[in-house]
Amino acid sequence: MAASTEQATGGVEKTAAEEKPRVLEPGAAPFGNFPHYSRFHPPEQRLRLLPPELLRRLFPQSSETRPILGLDVGCNSGDLSVALYKHFLSLHDGETCSDASRELHLLCCDIDPVLVERAEKECPFPDGLTFITLDFMNQRTRKVLLSSFLSQFGRSVFDIGFCMSVTMWIHLNHGDQGLWEFLAHLSSLCRYLLVEPQPWKCYRAAARRLRKLGLHDFDHFRSLAIQGDMASQIVHILTQDHGMELVCCFGNTNWDRSLLLFRTKQATETHPIPESLIEEGKERNRIRFWRQ
Ligand SMILES: C[S@@+](CC[C@H](N)C(=O)[O-])C[C@H]1O[C@@H](n2cnc3c(N)ncnc32)[C@H](O)[C@@H]1O
Repeated sequence: MAASTEQATGGVEKTAAEEKPRVLEPGAAPFGNFPHYSRFHPPEQRLRLLPPELLRRLFPQSSETRPILGLDVGCNSGDLSVALYKHFLSLHDGETCSDASRELHLLCCDIDPVLVERAEKECPFPDGLTFITLDFMNQRTRKVLLSSFLSQFGRSVFDIGFCMSVTMWIHLNHGDQGLWEFLAHLSSLCRYLLVEPQPWKCYRAAARRLRKLGLHDFDHFRSLAIQGDMASQIVHILTQDHGMELVCCFGNTNWDRSLLLFRTKQATETHPIPESLIEEGKERNRIRFWRQ
């Protein structure tokens, strides 16, 4: 499952093979499993849009609900997972905190075992982040691995899921139905969900890249009916079909990807959304889709 070296510009994921034909290899990244993804889509671009106190506000202190459990789907080699962990716990470089894993635990999964191995090796917070190889679309393994993790904490769902720059790869490889099911599983597994969908222009770039490498087109690219404004499409599926509501949009990255926070409607009945989050979002003009 080797992936070619990758660089990107202008928000469109692009292989280095496109830039320098001499390094062209017969292995694009069919699942978005680029070996150095964070070099061209750095975590900081996303983090600067997310309030560091977000999780503390969404999940106010209570020993019964500790630690906060997060699921990072499509974690690649873990750079964004670690950055999110540090960001939400306000940890600085080189700093470790003995209480950190009691505050927040992330289960991070990726389909590519080589990336997962690297993530495990390089993780500075092995007590707070667990990395596993998992094809999230494989129902049997997903059920076994996720339940086994959750049961260690006596839980049946995650507090929050992170789905960052993954939806396009699921969509291209599994079609409209696959994307719909993927979002269904995530919404049933997570009380809150932070999604960073890739815009449609990235789909075209990914398909073009594969053609340039002389590889097979994505099975589903030409038959996708869900297309166009992908952020709105995903908002529609999660809110109309999967019982979630849009809490806010934290803004757009340099790559024109929006960061959308959802939560299950059930959670809304028992835990109102913190007013401070709403006000802050309004002030920063970041809440575009508030309760459509
Ligand atoms: C473009 S990278 C995004 C990495 C990271 N989330 C970020 O935003 O920095 C997409 C990741 O999703 C993973 N992925 C794609 N399909 C997957 C699947 N079915 N199950 C688990 N991971 C998958 C890829 O291997 C790849 O590492």
